[in-house]
Formats: sequence, structure tokens, C-alpha cells
Amino acid sequence: MRQLHLNLFIHGRGHHEAGWRHPNASPLPLTDIDYYVGLAQRAERGCFDSIFFADWLALADDAAQAPRNWLEPVTLLAALAMATTRIGLIATCSTTYTEPFNLARQYATIDHISRGRVGWNIVTSWLATAAGNFGDAPALDHAARYARAEEFMQVVAGLWDSWAADAVLDDRASGLYAREDRLRPIDFHGEHYQVKGPLTLPRGPQGRPVFVQAGSSDTGKRFAARHAVLKRTAPGRPVRLQK
Ligand SMILES: Cc1cc2nc3c(=O)[nH]c(=O)nc-3n(C[C@H](O)[C@H](O)[C@H](O)COP(=O)(O)O)c2cc1C
Repeated sequence: MRQLHLNLFIHGRGHHEAGWRHPNASPLPLTDIDYYVGLAQRAERGCFDSIFFADWLALADDAAQAPRNWLEPVTLLAALAMATTRIGLIATCSTTYTEPFNLARQYATIDHISRGRVGWNIVTSWLATAAGNFGDAPALDHAARYARAEEFMQVVAGLWDSWAADAVLDDRASGLYAREDRLRPIDFHGEHYQVKGPLTLPRGPQGRPVFVQAGSSDTGKRFAARHAVLKRTAPGRPVRLQK
């Protein structure tokens, strides 16, 4: 039997730029966790597979006319994980402006907190103004961002696999907490990243997050085809979930 998968893309008080002014829009501030908890719980009751949070790393220049602010998505997921039980939780995070070690820890942590429900929307951050918030180097071009992202994926995969599923013994009697032979450093030496590993926490219930990617360029689509479970097929066509 074919199944329809539903994802709720929560974006301000709606995607329309004037949605926040609608008389029936929520009166809660967009920084109020209750707003997101209410939506997440309703989506869960409505049998949605997941909720999704986008992220951009610079404030838009029309922030006076429309609410262009939002809570940082990975942190937000930690709160939503405690307020829901079944729904998938997807947060966007950038491969261009994050270190893979930080990202791997954060998503593994949310995977533990949510008991195996985290997803990562992989973005390379097309917004040029984001560069101004991360030093004085100009924004990387498209090809450089995707080259970095490709290497990033190898590093985070290595980190998420650096603790075998049976590494933790937690054996009080013998005094052995973890099996050293089931932990492995990744010793990654690439063009962009040098990462020793292993990760600082045991493998999450899913091992790795569910990967989401919405690239629309040829490079982006090839990247999505290699890595993502939830991806864009073609402009104007729906995203497709692959089993
Ligand atoms: C549904 C959807 C959500 C997206 N969310 C984000 C986001 O949160 N942050 C971001 O920087 N880009 C986001 N993007 C942009 C894509 O990641 C991608 O960069 C864009 O589609 C251009 O494709 P390209 O990267 O292959 O050039 C989103 C795109 C779509 C269709």
C-alpha cells in the first residue's frame, strides 16, 4: 500500500510574509516555546511524520516589516523532543559555518534526547551576508561550499560511527564502563578538516540523523542523491521520501 508522508515546515506564523498579521494568527511571541510546542503536538496528533525548521545565519534587511527572527533550531529541537513522543524533528544546520565535530555532537545529543527522532536539513548556506557573521573572509562560492560539504559528510559519518552500538557496558561490578575496542578515533585528514575523534558521546538510537537536503542546482541534486533520504526532486515537484 502506498503511504503519504507529511512534514510540517514551521516558519514564523506562516510562510506568507504578511501571515504574522493575520487576525487568527497565534498571539504568542515567536520566541515563546509554547508556540512551537503547540504546533509540534498538533502535528503529532495529526499523524505528521516530522516537523522541520529552516535556518539562515544573517538577519534579513526587512526585519522591521516582517518577523525574520526565530529560535536556533537545534536548541529548539531539544525542547520539542521533551514535549512530543513520536514525531520526527528536523533542524537545519550549515556545513559552511559549523565545525563537523560540533554538529555531530549536537545531533547525536538530540537523537538521544528524542529517543531516535532527529533529522538534519543539510545546507551549504547560500546567503552571502552570513559570511559577515563568521569573520571577515568573503562568502565561499557555490562549488567551494559543496566541496566542503562533501568532506563534512565524511567527517560526521565517521564521528557518528566512532562508538559502536555495543560500546557501552556500564558494568558496575567489573568497573568497565565502555569497551575500548568498540571505540575508534577517525583520524580524518582532509583538505578542509582535520578531526581526530572519537565523539564525546555514545552512538544515538538512529546512529545517524535522517538526512534532508533541498539543493536545486545539479551539484546540489547530486549531493542530495548521494546523502539524503528526504530530498527535492525537481522545481515545483514535491520532495520525496525514500525508504
Ligand atoms: C524546502 C526548502 C528548505 C530550505 N531551507 C533552507 C534553510 O533553512 N537554510 C538555507 O540556507 N537554505 C535552505 N534552502 C535552500 C537549499 O538548501 C539550497 O541551497 C537551494 O535550494 C539552492 O540550491 P543549491 O544549493 O543546489 O544551489 C531550502 C530550500 C528548500 C526548497
